[in-house]
Amino acid sequence: MKIFLDTAEISVIQEMKEMGLVDGITTNPTLIAKTGRGFEEVIKDICAIVEGPVNAEITSTTADEIVEEGKKIHAWGEQIVIKIPMDREGLKAVWRLTQEGIPTTVTLIFSVPQAILAAKAGARYLCPFVGRLDDISEDGLALAADIAMVLGQYPDWTCEIMAASVRHPMHVIEIARSGVDIITIPPKVIDQMLHHPLTEKGIEQFLKDAATCYPG
Ligand code: E4P
Repeated sequence: MKIFLDTAEISVIQEMKEMGLVDGITTNPTLIAKTGRGFEEVIKDICAIVEGPVNAEITSTTADEIVEEGKKIHAWGEQIVIKIPMDREGLKAVWRLTQEGIPTTVTLIFSVPQAILAAKAGARYLCPFVGRLDDISEDGLALAADIAMVLGQYPDWTCEIMAASVRHPMHVIEIARSGVDIITIPPKVIDQMLHHPLTEKGIEQFLKDAATCYPG
């Protein structure tokens, strides 16, 4: 299973990279806006430190414009994956960019039928949004598991499922159990995954005891 970081914050990406936690990056316009910097500048900075896939989202709404915008963004870095919302025009653009060798992620997937269409159109990554479904009292984890089960039966579809909209460590556990290929995780959830009170208590005790018997 691969871990992508769901953030556009350079310092955070750098630190998580130093822990070996960054197989790739996902961004969206909301995450870019939070940095207070420009889209192009942020994506280029991320590409300078991350070798794996860097997801950059388009904002055009017609297939022709999406393809043009996607090509322009992809020219900023070889590892850039063009992230495209799930709709008719989006799928047309996914198909065309795929034919030209430019990888795409279909984002904002909320059903198995949408995932099937995105896979058929040629998307490299499919992004079911777990947390946003939970927000409306639907089962986001079941969606990710269903997509993994359905697409797992068709090995000729080479897309990977990337669970997104992850809100807490329990999401990570359940997504990992379901056999999804990639989880894109916000830094806050990585922090929550890192900590355990017994680990912290244990370190404190070991350091206290070491002070009585270790050299120096
Ligand atoms: C990542 O690709 C998605 O855009 C992101 O996970 C959405 O998360 P949110 O639902 O917490 O905004």
